[in-house]
Amino acid sequence: MAAPRIDLAGQVVIVTGANSGIGFETALALAEGGATVVMAGRSEAKVARAVEEVAERTGSTRVVAGALDLASFASIRSFAAWFLDEFDRLDVLVNNAGLVLDERRETEEGFEQMFGVNHLGHFLLTDLLRERLVASAPARVINVASVAHRAARRGMTRDDLQHERRFRSFAVYGESKLANVLFTRELARRLDGTGVIVHCVHPGSINSGFGADGDAAVLGSLIALLGRVVLRSPRFGARTQVWLASTDDPAVVGTTGGYFSWKRRWRPSRAARRPDEARWLWEQSERLIAAAS
Ligand SMILES: NC(=O)c1ccc[n+]([C@@H]2O[C@H](COP(=O)([O-])OP(=O)(O)OC[C@H]3O[C@@H](n4cnc5c(N)ncnc54)[C@H](OP(=O)(O)O)[C@@H]3O)[C@@H](O)[C@H]2O)c1
Repeated sequence: MAAPRIDLAGQVVIVTGANSGIGFETALALAEGGATVVMAGRSEAKVARAVEEVAERTGSTRVVAGALDLASFASIRSFAAWFLDEFDRLDVLVNNAGLVLDERRETEEGFEQMFGVNHLGHFLLTDLLRERLVASAPARVINVASVAHRAARRGMTRDDLQHERRFRSFAVYGESKLANVLFTRELARRLDGTGVIVHCVHPGSINSGFGADGDAAVLGSLIALLGRVVLRSPRFGARTQVWLASTDDPAVVGTTGGYFSWKRRWRPSRAARRPDEARWLWEQSERLIAAAS
């Protein structure tokens, strides 16, 4: 059955990590819906190719490339400054970019990269765009989390947040995805009453390029192998976030702070539902950004 048509004419959206996988399909669907889509990514060449493809396939002239490396505060700040200068509104921010690494690497400011890119970079980006979102309300922030957040059953590793003492790839990835859910809930609480809703999503188990670039060799080859057999397509993976970005369903627009998958709201893990954990992560994130700035 064909997906119902969405109408986003006049809206401006940003998708991070839009050059590939689920982010690419999200940008494509939102452009098909008539939105102005800023496709943000860290590789200028890859983003340029992706923009060209979306423009060609949708016939839209409102698909724009944005240079954004979430592993660099300077890049995040320069992207946000450029965006605020170029566009007078922001209706939907899709914080989609993410990575999994099988060894400990650091961002430009010295944060462990999965925490730094998957969580902290998006935290800073959202903060820099927050006033524009509020001024454009009703508006939405969609954070791409994962069911992997459940792996971090004890919550954030408060005494080793940068995993300097102990690094286990999937556990650290899971913790960064827990951070996405906690951030969603705390941001939703702080934006309550502004007309900006905030939700997060588990896209499903998707056969994208995730982990396949040698970033996480073992996990990557496992995913590639499984991919041929059981995983769904990136287009399928984009479905719930495209729906969250565009639907008028009261289950989405009448609520905030939800965790969705398969276009349904689910209860995230116990650790993800702890308000004290969400507040702690928020305060730590602010402190870390201030200290590095
Ligand atoms: N695939 C799954 O089964 C699955 C399941 C649950 C959740 N997710 C989540 O879904 C999201 C999208 O993943 P995907 O499956 O579509 O994988 P993907 O194809 O690897 O896409 C990830 C995107 O993030 C970008 N990215 C990585 N590091 C970045 C940085 N420092 N700055 C800016 N962009 C950066 C990548 O850019 P480059 O092309 O330059 O590397 C790429 O465009 C991720 O948040 C992931 O955690 C995926």
